[in-house]
Amino acid sequence: MITGGLGFIGSTLAYKLVELGAYVTLVDSLIPEYGGNLVNIHGLEGKVRVNISDIRDAHSMKYLVQGHTYLFNLAGQTSHIDSMRSPFTDLDINCAAQLSLLETCRTYNPDVKIVFASTRQIYGKPDYLPVDEKHILRPVDVNGINKMAGEWYHILYNDVYNLRTCSLRLTNTYGPRMRIRDARQTFLGIWIRLLLEGKPFEVWGGNQLRDYTYVGDAVDAMLLAAESKSADGKIFNLGGERVYTLLETAQVLVDANGDGSFIVKEFPKEMKKIDIGDYYSDYGSIQRELGWRPKKNLCDGLKETLRYFKREIKNYV
Ligand SMILES: NC(=O)c1ccc[n+]([C@@H]2O[C@H](COP(=O)([O-])OP(=O)(O)OC[C@H]3O[C@@H](n4cnc5c(N)ncnc54)[C@H](O)[C@@H]3O)[C@@H](O)[C@H]2O)c1
Repeated sequence: MITGGLGFIGSTLAYKLVELGAYVTLVDSLIPEYGGNLVNIHGLEGKVRVNISDIRDAHSMKYLVQGHTYLFNLAGQTSHIDSMRSPFTDLDINCAAQLSLLETCRTYNPDVKIVFASTRQIYGKPDYLPVDEKHILRPVDVNGINKMAGEWYHILYNDVYNLRTCSLRLTNTYGPRMRIRDARQTFLGIWIRLLLEGKPFEVWGGNQLRDYTYVGDAVDAMLLAAESKSADGKIFNLGGERVYTLLETAQVLVDANGDGSFIVKEFPKEMKKIDIGDYYSDYGSIQRELGWRPKKNLCDGLKETLRYFKREIKNYV
């Protein structure tokens, strides 16, 4: 079962699981502001079970969690700015519903293995780089606080109730099927949209350091975490093959497309307060324990992403 299964990462995971011969159930609320999109599962019709439900609905979840070996828990509100404008929605989805889902699993499917999609946002502004899992958690926005709590409920249920869980702290993840309508998922989304529409995109600041994970690599990490007993109760950072400044990232994107342009602007004041500054992660822990590392370089990953959206843009804007 994949919560958030019609979203960007969830649907990519669904293709992989179907390819591996799994019986897959996708649960998604399809709230328009989030990344869920039925186009994301084109080609999987008849091969997966789709249930349009909200993880906040404990009654549906009670029925849905039963009978699954693995639960990939990816449903979430992902926008940092939306979490500040509508903090209680973020609280309900990223925190309260996570606790409710864990309680439901404890009662109705205690043998399930859960992989939770956490985020590097929970570290806040890093004290040092690269950021490893021992770095203090000091979120700078409501989303970070709720995702942090959601993650720790998972670890608590592993430690106290033997419900097997593992959390992956994702960094900027990109690839085909990402949300490009706006910047709600990541700034790369709106950059890609504007580039394909032949308009210049905006780079705010430019010297901030970032790392990026191609969605196929993120999915590989989820499968490794699901399969591995030694991952139970653990938290792992994911990361990128290299560190890029935003300006370098913009240039790689333009190069991957063959043409396009961008404008450098000052970082907007409203966003500055919740910006994490420079970030890149140390993913040594998952590399040592599960043998994972990011394989796809940014330019190749962006080329694949652009190839997909050149074909499909009408379904994503
Ligand atoms: N994409 C990234 O860069 C990134 C980085 C860090 C963490 N993550 C985490 O990975 C997970 C998946 O993210 P994504 O990038 O695929 O985003 P996404 O928005 O494409 O996927 C999330 C999915 O969850 C669904 N959803 C939201 N609220 C729901 C609810 N109440 N009930 C049922 N479904 C609900 C949405 O409809 C959407 O399809 C999220 O939990 C996110 O916090 C993503």
